[in-house]
Amino acid sequence: MAVLGIESSAHTFGVGISDKGKILANSKEMYKITDKGMIPSRVAEFHASNARGVIQRAISESGIRLSEIEAISYTKGPGLGPCLRVGQLAAMTLSETLSVPLYPVNHAIGHIQITTHLSGFKDPLAVYVSGGNSQILGITDKGFRHYAIYGETLDIGVGNMIDNFARAARLNPAWGSTVAKVAENGHYMQMPYTVKGMDFTFTGLLTNAVKALSSHKVEDVAYSLQETAFSMIAEASERALLLSGKQGVILCGGVAQSKRLQEILAAMSKSHGVGFYTAPNEYNADNGAMIAYVGELMHRGGAKPRSGDYTIEQRYRIDGVELKWL
Ligand code: FE2
Repeated sequence: MAVLGIESSAHTFGVGISDKGKILANSKEMYKITDKGMIPSRVAEFHASNARGVIQRAISESGIRLSEIEAISYTKGPGLGPCLRVGQLAAMTLSETLSVPLYPVNHAIGHIQITTHLSGFKDPLAVYVSGGNSQILGITDKGFRHYAIYGETLDIGVGNMIDNFARAARLNPAWGSTVAKVAENGHYMQMPYTVKGMDFTFTGLLTNAVKALSSHKVEDVAYSLQETAFSMIAEASERALLLSGKQGVILCGGVAQSKRLQEILAAMSKSHGVGFYTAPNEYNADNGAMIAYVGELMHRGGAKPRSGDYTIEQRYRIDGVELKWL
């Protein structure tokens, strides 16, 4: 018996199947982002036309029959409304057709929980970095059991900041991995560095880097932008680690694929004698497996969603989710 999870919060329509924490399938189709960015209605159309195919592929990849699925889960948010809606409708239809329970999942909890699970760490500090998010979190029982946000970006996510820089520098494709490649031959130059306690901001850094492009080599600007942003995240994470007393660090989310950020956080963790882990890239990119896995935790942990919970929420904050089932 297994749980099928659907992820559709942004450009990926993903379907995963988890059985007692073992990932049996992790299928996806990704919308190709053009230089115009993501138009939510277009991406939603893409998801709608791929939903059936990706679900079928996940089922056949898993080697189980549809009748063996004991629960369905989907990403409730945060994300783009029209995209979330496609996953929600597909999940509701499957749950009705199979007469099995349905679980709405917070996308960030998906990234953090699948990485925690694969790490084997008991209760780590989570550094969650993606296009739209950059947060440092840990589970706390203060008030109620939930993820406390120790620190976060006060403006834009680190992923969006790097993508914006890549577009301004006319790099192709305008992604973090391209910036990382260009940065390999760069030298450091001073950039604005803003950490406030355990929070940080990126827009000052971005504006400065874009301006610097007219008078400096792109390699040097890319290198300095990357080093500065990642050092800011590391400083805030180090403070959160010491304050929370957590005994391990996990790095998750799309930007966790950055080798340089992995290196910096691994060194920081090592200097405090705690373990560091980041999952294989297929789990750092958006995926259905993480939603299936959390759906399974909720199902086995006795989560009881009410009918009013089966919604989508574009700004679904992680720190408001009660983890009674964990
Ligand atoms: Fe994500």
